[in-house]
Amino acid sequence: MLKKIALVAIGGLFATTAIAQTELFKADDLVKYRQSIYQILSAQATVLGATAKGEIEFDPEIVRERALNMSNVAKLLGETYVPATQGVKDSNMLPAAWEDMDGFSGKGKAFGGALQELIAVSGEAGFDKKAAGPAIVKVLKSCKACHDDYRAD
Ligand code: HEC
Repeated sequence: MLKKIALVAIGGLFATTAIAQTELFKADDLVKYRQSIYQILSAQATVLGATAKGEIEFDPEIVRERALNMSNVAKLLGETYVPATQGVKDSNMLPAAWEDMDGFSGKGKAFGGALQELIAVSGEAGFDKKAAGPAIVKVLKSCKACHDDYRAD
């Protein structure tokens, strides 16, 4: 029951309908699953960040594809936030996240909102580097905003 309450509380981009399936996973595996999703997000963020900094050539198709990749995997995060994962040694999710699920969820929604803005702008005619830069930076800042409060290190 507790699991269900926590998952429902997360909402937004992290929402999941896979509650029943979640109960099939072991806590250790859920943390690996969660960290793997973050690694996928990180790889996309690396390409987007390099684009924003001008380290690689701006390609509107690549920006859009990387943003869509993020959206496709981020939606799986919700089913990994199961309270039993709090006891997993390798998890870097701070107790603060569990104590303040509204705050944590708010950071998740801010990330989801920034990502949706990037996806929307990348679908507009004439999408260029000038439009991409600030939208990418907003997404990357939303990652850091959550880590500052809710991730160890
Ligand atoms: C709502 C909060 C939140 C947002 C938004 C968020 N993260 Fe994280 N991130 C976490 C937490 C919590 C962990 C620790 C997970 C664990 O170890 O259980 C984490 C872990 C990570 C890790 C380490 C994974 C590993 O192998 O241990 C990377 C890399 C990462 N995040 C990248 C990103 C990137 C890139 C973004 C934005 C595109 C992002 N995160 C957005 C909360 C967030």
